[in-house]
Amino acid sequence: MVRIVQVSDLHIEAEPETMFPGVGRVLEEASEVIRALAPDLLVVTGDLTTFGSSRPRDLVLARQWLEQLDRPWVAIAGNHDLGSSPERALRHPETEAYEPLPLARTHFGTVFGPQPVSAVDLGAVEVVAFNLRAGDPDNTLPAIRQAVEQSAKPVILCGHYPLEPVRVGGPCSAEASQATGSFLPELATLVQPLVAQYDHIRLYLAGHVHVNSRLPLSPHCLQLTTGGLGPGASSLRVFTVAQGWVRYDTLLGPGPQGFWERVAPAMGPYPPAYHLGTSEEQGGEWRLEP
Ligand SMILES: [Fe+2]
Ligand SMILES: [Fe+2]
Repeated sequence: MVRIVQVSDLHIEAEPETMFPGVGRVLEEASEVIRALAPDLLVVTGDLTTFGSSRPRDLVLARQWLEQLDRPWVAIAGNHDLGSSPERALRHPETEAYEPLPLARTHFGTVFGPQPVSAVDLGAVEVVAFNLRAGDPDNTLPAIRQAVEQSAKPVILCGHYPLEPVRVGGPCSAEASQATGSFLPELATLVQPLVAQYDHIRLYLAGHVHVNSRLPLSPHCLQLTTGGLGPGASSLRVFTVAQGWVRYDTLLGPGPQGFWERVAPAMGPYPPAYHLGTSEEQGGEWRLEP
């Protein structure tokens, strides 16, 4: 049996916390939960910080948080850790600063390593996690393809952004992402074909939307997102891999159970299921092998 825990959108800030006051305390409490779960691997699907793209000391704090858990981990960048495009940076210079540099020389690359893709072999499955910026200046796409082709095992692919919108209506819908401008216009056109081509990619795990969702991308690949552990909606995903199947469950985190009513109140209303999802989105099973 293999146990993987996914958390996302920690949004750690150096003191004094300004964007999401209280995240540091929430993450301290969440540490206990993660240690007790003793995962074989902890996967963090981005937005480790809020200001990391312009303030490397916040990325250092995030790395320290991961290391004190004393479990194997893999972490990828969100738009707040590694700016996704110069256009977004013009609108959000402090929270999504773009660095026109090779990944190795960005703040994120300096703190978390220069590789665009990390592959972790867990025996029954392989986890492939990637950092992607607009225009793919880091040659992430070929590196994902290589990692997937080299694996004879079911692959759990992990990125920051969902490949398909996760809600009908509100800020996590297709209409909202069109209205605000996509973070990565090529994401769907570049990564989706990989998922379609390689039927041993069985799960795609993402964050960014701060909600807990489930959406089949194809007959063989299921997209799952989890909430924002720090600022909300605070949750963790627990994956149990055994005998060709994966069971996914949701644990509530110690932080706020909402998020979007604070960030985008006009786009509501937000019934509890907007963040936490239906019972099927919270827990279920998926076949890992054909
Ligand atoms: Fe986030
Ligand atoms: Fe994000």
